[in-house]
Amino acid sequence: MRKKIIAGNWKMNTDKKDSKNLVSEIVKNSEEKNHTYIILSPPYIYLQQAITDCMHRKDILVASQNCSSFDNGAYTGEVSAKMLKSIGVDYVIIGHSERRQYFKESNDILNDKILQALSNNLKVIFCCGEDINQREKNEFFDVINDQLSSTIFKLDSKKLSNIIVAYEPIWAIGTGKTASPEQAQEMHFYIRSLFKKNFGDNVGDNISILYGGSCKASNAKTIFSQSDIDGGLIGGASLKSADFISIINSI
Ligand code: 13P
Repeated sequence: MRKKIIAGNWKMNTDKKDSKNLVSEIVKNSEEKNHTYIILSPPYIYLQQAITDCMHRKDILVASQNCSSFDNGAYTGEVSAKMLKSIGVDYVIIGHSERRQYFKESNDILNDKILQALSNNLKVIFCCGEDINQREKNEFFDVINDQLSSTIFKLDSKKLSNIIVAYEPIWAIGTGKTASPEQAQEMHFYIRSLFKKNFGDNVGDNISILYGGSCKASNAKTIFSQSDIDGGLIGGASLKSADFISIINSI
C-alpha cells in the first residue's frame, strides 16, 4: 500500500519559540495512523529541536528544506547531507521552485543534491511544477516530463523507493489559487504513468505523489480523495497548527 503523507514546509518562517510551539501542538493534536506519515520541515536551525520533540512518534518525520550539493569542505554557509543525517533528519526537500527560481538551482545542482542526500541515507521529497505561461500554453505535461527526465528518472529503480514526488504548480504556490482536483489528478496520473513506463508498474504503483500549492483545510479533502494523490506538501497552512491538523485529518 502506498504511503499517505502530509508534509509541512515552513519555508523561512517562525522563530525558535513559534517553531517549538508548532511542533508540540501538532504532536499533541494528531494521532498515529497506519500507512500515514506527517513530515515537518522547519528551517535548519530548528531541526534538532523538532527531531527531539517528535522522537517518540514513529509517524512524524523531519525534513530539511535544502542540503548542500557538496560533500564537505570550504563552502561557507552550506549544510551537508551528512550533517543533517548525523542529527537524525529523515528527508530533504529538493527541487522546490523557490530554490530553482531565487537561488538558480539548475538540474545539475539538483542532481548533485539528490546524490548527496541518497548517499547519506536521507530520503528526498522532489518537487516539480510548471509556471502559469506553461500552463496556459498547454505545455505542462512536457515541462513535468522534462523536469523529471533530467533528474530523478536518471536514478536506478532501487533508489526510487527513497523518493517522494511533490507536484507543485508554481501558479498555485502562495497565490490562493489551487489547482482543481481534476487538474491535480490529471497531472498525478500522468506522473505515475511516466514512472510505470520508465521503471515498471511496481515502481509506479508504489511511489507517493503529493500535491502542493494553496492546499488548505477547506480544499484538502477533495484534493486528497483523488486516486493518484497521496497527500500534500503544505506551505502557508502548515504554519497554523489548527489548520495543519485539519489538513492531516482530511487524509
Ligand atoms: P503554499 O501552500 O503556501 O501555497 O505553498 C506550497 C509550497 O510551496 C510547499 O512547498
